[in-house]
Amino acid sequence: MLAAAKYSAIEALRDGRRLEIRALGPDDRADLLAAVGRSSGQSLYRRFFAVRRGFTEPEIAFFLNPDFVDHVALVAGVEESARLVIAGGGRYVVVQPGKAEVAFAVVDQYQRQGIGAALMRHLAAIARGAGLEELIAEVLPDNIPMLKVFEKSGFRLSTKRGPQVVHVLLRLFKEEDQ
Ligand SMILES: CC(C)(COP(=O)(O)OP(=O)(O)OC[C@H]1O[C@@H](n2cnc3c(N)ncnc32)[C@H](O)[C@@H]1OP(=O)(O)O)[C@@H](O)C(=O)NCCC(=O)NCCS
Repeated sequence: MLAAAKYSAIEALRDGRRLEIRALGPDDRADLLAAVGRSSGQSLYRRFFAVRRGFTEPEIAFFLNPDFVDHVALVAGVEESARLVIAGGGRYVVVQPGKAEVAFAVVDQYQRQGIGAALMRHLAAIARGAGLEELIAEVLPDNIPMLKVFEKSGFRLSTKRGPQVVHVLLRLFKEEDQ
């Protein structure tokens, strides 16, 4: 089995609660859909660039079946009433050799607790381990939280403003790494 498919790391939320960052698994369908159901219209719009009230089965199948090579998906698990629930997720999809597109979503009530930054850190570590050199993303211009997560990632960032979106490019390797 691929190492990324078994990925698991323990972190802490800003309030000290336990946060697990782990690979999305085949049994996560209900929890993932529940996390989407708990997300605000604004968060879903910022993630999917459209008003989404639901997803088609092929879309759900795509989200739930990363191959952990060209498509890697992590979730953030937090404890609620003695069970771990999904509070957020991040994924990348390789779009050309060495380059993948990333996207993140954190359930509103868990935003601003460090989950986005943690997902970014772990996804970037997996991407670097897989030899990827660049991560790209398209971000709505008013999406300051997402732009901040990229800015604070510590990787070299360039942004290009298009009419509708900001194109973000993160370089995963510094010259001295090579
Ligand atoms: C973007 C998103 C994933 C960030 O996740 P998060 O868990 O809230 O982010 P973090 O708590 O790790 O915040 C990291 C940094 O981002 C900045 N930030 C986060 N939310 C912010 C906000 N509402 N306003 C200003 N800065 C913010 C801060 O600098 C923060 O660090 P700090 O708390 O130490 O100051 C989350 O807001 C989200 O899910 N948004 C909706 C979906 C989305 O926009 N997806 C992007 C598609 S590409």
